[in-house]
Amino acid sequence: MTSIDTRTLRPIDDVLEEELVALQAAGLKRSMRAVQQRRAGTVILNGERIADFASNDYLGLAADHRVARAASAVLQAEGTGAGAARLISGNHPIHDALERELARFKGVDSTLLFPSGYMANIGVIPALMSPGDVIYSDQLNHASLVDGCRLSKATVRIFPHGDVDALQSMLVQDAGSYRRALIIVEGVFSMDGDLFPLDRLVEVAERFGAWTYVDDAHGTGVLGPTGAGTLEHFGVTARVDIVVGTLGKAFGTAGAFVGGSQVLIEFLTSRARSFIFTTSTPPAIAAATLEALRLSRVEPWRRTAVLDRARQLRERLRRGGHEVPGASDGHILPIRVGDPMRTMSLVADMRRRGFLIGGVRPPTVPAGTSRLRVSVSALHPPELVDALAASLLAAMR
Ligand SMILES: Cc1ncc(COP(=O)(O)O)c(C=O)c1O
Repeated sequence: MTSIDTRTLRPIDDVLEEELVALQAAGLKRSMRAVQQRRAGTVILNGERIADFASNDYLGLAADHRVARAASAVLQAEGTGAGAARLISGNHPIHDALERELARFKGVDSTLLFPSGYMANIGVIPALMSPGDVIYSDQLNHASLVDGCRLSKATVRIFPHGDVDALQSMLVQDAGSYRRALIIVEGVFSMDGDLFPLDRLVEVAERFGAWTYVDDAHGTGVLGPTGAGTLEHFGVTARVDIVVGTLGKAFGTAGAFVGGSQVLIEFLTSRARSFIFTTSTPPAIAAATLEALRLSRVEPWRRTAVLDRARQLRERLRRGGHEVPGASDGHILPIRVGDPMRTMSLVADMRRRGFLIGGVRPPTVPAGTSRLRVSVSALHPPELVDALAASLLAAMR
């Protein structure tokens, strides 16, 4: 029997202090800043109103007064908390109504709400996959997808980012070796802004009988003729088995949903642990999301504006000699820096110039690929985008 050697045990704070010093030295220590009063593509930071190019509030709905009013009406009538998990006593009719609307919007049979996108991914993947199964996961998949794969204890095979040929070779190699096969990708990659070629993905998956899982956290509400997302953009909605969308990004509220067939949703209701064992989304937030969803449909200018501004920023940077990779007109623009310290010093410089920009470092992205992550919103006026481009080019010079 092994036992703990009490002579080598050190107090927790001493151990963690040492690790924090090492993180600081590597430029990887993280800290939060207090951001207030999101309004019209700006926020207040340290008492100063600055332009916000760091959020995922792509459609500018997070501070919309109509969305807030919808939440407020339900808050007044119902109070704050749902009180319990959905399967106990926390299921409000507004949760059902939102799930029906999301299904209609996404073009799927049915959906199931989760408190967050992270929880959706760590609940759904292990519900479907277990030892003896294989998951093919894109190299740049989000941490929540990686963690969902780990929790499943299935065999996980990582394929090079966006490389359908490499994926196909793995499927050929593995033929007959596993019980179930699931391919997991993001629709729009959160830190790179590029789209997975879903048209090619479904062809390969269908040929090999693999199931498909698309996390469309960043495409939902923005891409496709009706804003339904990356599946609609590629015309493959009916050919993808499982789709995840988040509500805290384009819709400006909080939570997430999984969409697919009636059977899939019925199964997840009984088997997804992060759905079963958690208090449900507050009804007021579900009401806010319903209103945000309605607004995203009746105000399509928001989708057009966000993609126009992104195109404009890309073009201005290109003219200034800085080519931005990623989707040619996607709304997330990665600006590769490399070194984490330099990345964060550029973030600080941009803040002094009046712009809040995301600085992304490992482990969010692979080592050596630290970057600025610029995301545009429908509420950013064109002049502000021009000013941002000029400041970015000056800061990087
Ligand atoms: C691709 C992807 N999936 C899931 C999530 C998690 O979503 P949420 O913020 O709702 O937990 C994110 C958000 O960062 C994401 O980018």
